Amino acid sequence: MKIIARDRKGREHIIEGNDGWTVMEALRDAGLPITAECGGACACATCHVYVEDGWYEKLRAPSPEETDMLDMALAVEPNSRLSCQILCTDQTDGIKVTLALE
Ligand code: FES
Repeated sequence: MKIIARDRKGREHIIEGNDGWTVMEALRDAGLPITAECGGACACATCHVYVEDGWYEKLRAPSPEETDMLDMALAVEPNSRLSCQILCTDQTDGIKVTLALE
């Protein structure tokens, strides 16, 4: 599946995400500057992204753990998510995200 990812300089990258990976893993594998300090354990918020263009509503709601972590993140917006909590599936093919400021 494809992910359209905008970096912090506004450049758009179209990257591949293997089925079952998380969006964070795909971003990291593509060399985008995402820290993902905790490795996807929902314990750091350094994989924060903004989910764009109506994709936010299509995702499963964040878990209480993700919501707690986002409470501690900087520059949180209504479309903020942790990219390690978004799975690459047919349902997320074409998802558009922007890397959040750190
Ligand atoms: S990688 Fe740490 S919360 Fe997503």
